[in-house]
Amino acid sequence: MSAQDEWKPDSWRERPVCQIPAYPDPEHLRRVEKQISGWPALVFAGEARALKKRLGEVCEGRGFLLQGGDCSESFAEHDGKNIRDYFRVMLQMAVLMIYGASCQVVKVGRVSGQFAKPRSSDTETRNGMTLPSYRGDIINGIEFDATARVPDPERQKMAYRQSAATLNLLRAFSHGGFSNLENVHNWMLAFVSDSPQGKHYEEVAERISEAMAFMRAIGITADANYQLRQTSFYTSHEALLLGYEEALTRTDSTTGEWYATSGHMLWIGDRTRQPDHAHVEFCRGIGNPIGIKCGPSLDPMELVRLTEMLNIENEPGRLTLITRFGHEGIGNGLPPLIRAIEQHGRKVVWSCDPMHGNTIVRNGYKTRPFENILSEVRSFFEIHESEGTHAGGIHVEMTGQNVTECTGGARAISEENLSDRYHTHCDPRLNAEQSVELAFLVSDLLKKSRK
Ligand code: PEP
Ligand code: CO
Repeated sequence: MSAQDEWKPDSWRERPVCQIPAYPDPEHLRRVEKQISGWPALVFAGEARALKKRLGEVCEGRGFLLQGGDCSESFAEHDGKNIRDYFRVMLQMAVLMIYGASCQVVKVGRVSGQFAKPRSSDTETRNGMTLPSYRGDIINGIEFDATARVPDPERQKMAYRQSAATLNLLRAFSHGGFSNLENVHNWMLAFVSDSPQGKHYEEVAERISEAMAFMRAIGITADANYQLRQTSFYTSHEALLLGYEEALTRTDSTTGEWYATSGHMLWIGDRTRQPDHAHVEFCRGIGNPIGIKCGPSLDPMELVRLTEMLNIENEPGRLTLITRFGHEGIGNGLPPLIRAIEQHGRKVVWSCDPMHGNTIVRNGYKTRPFENILSEVRSFFEIHESEGTHAGGIHVEMTGQNVTECTGGARAISEENLSDRYHTHCDPRLNAEQSVELAFLVSDLLKKSRK
């Protein structure tokens, strides 16, 4: 019997596991998981396969992956306006890259399921009091209060329902009129009018409108061409809370294969990628596209082994390696990984997470200097250029709101500004303007790399 045959949705339970909390009432947990396992799938296997196919094209150098969203979604911030503003920034970023580099962009949200957080410490101490760490709204409460910090299985039901509502709105935005390219000017209303990037964005929007007018004149209209009036948008999150993931893992009736139906793409975090542990075991058996976070402690040969375990068929699009070294570490860290993967002929999409290696603490706030984020992205492109591989994507923590969580950018958010609008439940995110500024940079780098 091959290793693949021995896989079951619950075979991860026999492996060592990190980052999953101990629930005080296991019977309660079991009941909730059983209930969720009877609830409808959030996404469908056919959609996950469609994403895998598009990532396969990125893997072959014909496209770019834009993956972004909250570090951690929260129950408190579940409002339609936030989702709309977030979706609009994703569209803006994508259109800048598509237009600037004539390259298809695969949009994948960190959304509709991004509720569980790995933590570097199991406990948090404030004013002499020590409590269990906050692990995301799907597990416990963020309030520094002994009751809130107890892992509560009921939260999984809340997370499921919020994911369903968020996804419903995202589907409406992508297939209803919102994403129609004829609206490219509207997407920026209320945002760029007074922003430092506004003029630049307005110019691009103007040129797209001219191209649309030209196409209309020759009979290619948005009414008749769904590519102009709709877009594809996929969801993703870290596959951390495996009991919840297992409950939403189903066999696909058309192929008989297993798929996670909590989101289209799942990734394995940098703290849970041990080859013989539970998270890798769970992910190897599902058919979805999978990401692996690759940080400084990852040995190149271990990465090759992971790609073999998680992608037995070496199928392009199945695996995305999301590297997160920090702007100072990428120069030494990334080339050995690329060389090992190339030497072993492993098919992967290379994506850059310029967030998680660049976190620092200032004035008591976790922040990330925007220039260091840009610097890591620039190095990512340069390194792939010199290794002869395709810089295939970026993975960012961002929001459509005007927050002050990362310093720098065209508006020069300072360390003193951090307290103005610091709303994240976990890591600092790019605000709408910083996200668009990053998209301009990526668009230039992508254009150069495609020449
Ligand atoms: C994250 O993406 O929020 C995260 C925790 O990343 P990593 O696993 O790379 O540290
Ligand atoms: Co994060």
